[in-house]
Amino acid sequence: RDRFYYEKFPSKFAWGSATSAYQTEGAWNVHGKGESIWDNYSHRAPCWYMRNQTGDVACDSYHNFDDDLAIIKELGLTHYRFSLSWSRLFPDGKLTSGPLPDGVRYYNDVINKLIAANVEPMVTLFHWDLPQALQDEFGGFNSSKIILYYVDYADFCFSTFGDRIKYWITFNAPYEYCTQGHGSGTLAPAYGVTEKQQKSMQTQKYLASHKYHVELVIVKCHYSPGEGVYYAAHSIIKSHAQAYHIYNNTYRESQKGQIGITLNSNWADPMTRTDLEHVEASQRNLAFATGWFADPIFGTGDYPDIMRYNVQNISEFFNITHDRLPKFTEAEKLLNKGTSDFFGLNHYTSHLVVPCSYYQNLDGPTYDSDQLTCGDGCAEWLSSASTWLYQVPWGIRKLLIWIKRTYGDPVIYITENGISEHFSDGLDDDIRVNYYKNYINEVLKAIKEDDVNVKGYTAWSLMDNFEWAEGYSERFGLHWVNFTDPERTRIPKKSASYYRSLAGSGTYVR
Ligand code: NOJ
Repeated sequence: RDRFYYEKFPSKFAWGSATSAYQTEGAWNVHGKGESIWDNYSHRAPCWYMRNQTGDVACDSYHNFDDDLAIIKELGLTHYRFSLSWSRLFPDGKLTSGPLPDGVRYYNDVINKLIAANVEPMVTLFHWDLPQALQDEFGGFNSSKIILYYVDYADFCFSTFGDRIKYWITFNAPYEYCTQGHGSGTLAPAYGVTEKQQKSMQTQKYLASHKYHVELVIVKCHYSPGEGVYYAAHSIIKSHAQAYHIYNNTYRESQKGQIGITLNSNWADPMTRTDLEHVEASQRNLAFATGWFADPIFGTGDYPDIMRYNVQNISEFFNITHDRLPKFTEAEKLLNKGTSDFFGLNHYTSHLVVPCSYYQNLDGPTYDSDQLTCGDGCAEWLSSASTWLYQVPWGIRKLLIWIKRTYGDPVIYITENGISEHFSDGLDDDIRVNYYKNYINEVLKAIKEDDVNVKGYTAWSLMDNFEWAEGYSERFGLHWVNFTDPERTRIPKKSASYYRSLAGSGTYVR
């Protein structure tokens, strides 16, 4: 597995880098921009959470896009992935509240400058920053009312910017948005979680994260999501499908672009490969984490059977009589199916998996799914500044093969991949150079040896930015950002020159 390739990537392979609006733009309330759930959440975050930091200014890309453009050009990127802030265009999320001319002007400027520099924009419509007004009015994605507003917003974006956009991404990583935003409360909007609960969960998370670092302990598996998590996912899938059909029916012919969704997916490896129970548990884990969204969109149109079966069983165990996992009608299944021109993949790490039953005598209840982050079997996995991120380069190749086999060989764009360092770390980011070398080489093997249809790779991130609940304490950038300097100067790290040598020539460089 340490074999290196010196072959070239296919011609026309897309080499990109990615950011998102809330994590980089700043200017949270200028020129009429409305409050988003992240503005709201970060302004009320309790105790040490987010280190009392916010994305109010972040990299200030709203005022400094030319600086971003300069480093994009310097890297020789062919593609740049960024997201639109919904409340910068429509302050309360509804068409009646906008569009704000300054928001439209800003995104037109970004798009036009990228195109003038020969860089293809890849635009994410929703990277977690929902307008707060829609959250307040009916609970955001907890209600199916959101679908209408999301679709209006998407339609506006297609008609306003779509003449120049060849890649649309409807949603970014809905698994995280649902399980953390409508479940654990570790991401906005922390729906259904009281401040007190949030505080205690954060403390637990904090204590646990220290434990992981020191002992690489086996952590307990996937908690059992409450029904709100499943409702949010249901609204997201329906919103996605409707936006896809609008694009497909109204804009595709004239605009000639592609539209898809980005899913975050970790590879799940059985803790013991010869133990059938472990193997089955790892398959359940993939079904719960990836299949949850991928099966409706890339597969059958519906949730994985194994997921429905487990959610029902566990509900019965707790004497919950109603269905926590909502159902699609037959017509909805047809509307879901095949609604992505490509599989957008965010991938960072892998898990070792054992069955949940293993943990039932520990402190938690029983679980819907099975996973552990790292156990005895992975003591050699290198870590990062993020508690959840272990370096497992071969995991990306296995996952790519799994996606190919499970979903009928879709075109895949790796829309995010990267590694974090601590706030105090500087420009000599050998850890990131190695991470990219090893992961990208595994992607190349998947293309050349396994015939996986990967058409592009987008590194997370162009520059250090606001890492959600971790604030600025984790740096993911190819460029170092000075967050104390009002100019937010961007300085290339070692990994930037490595990535430039790769993106510029398409050859894997050791
Ligand atoms: C996935 C998310 O899409 C992105 O916003 C985040 O910063 C990275 N993961 C790293 O955690």
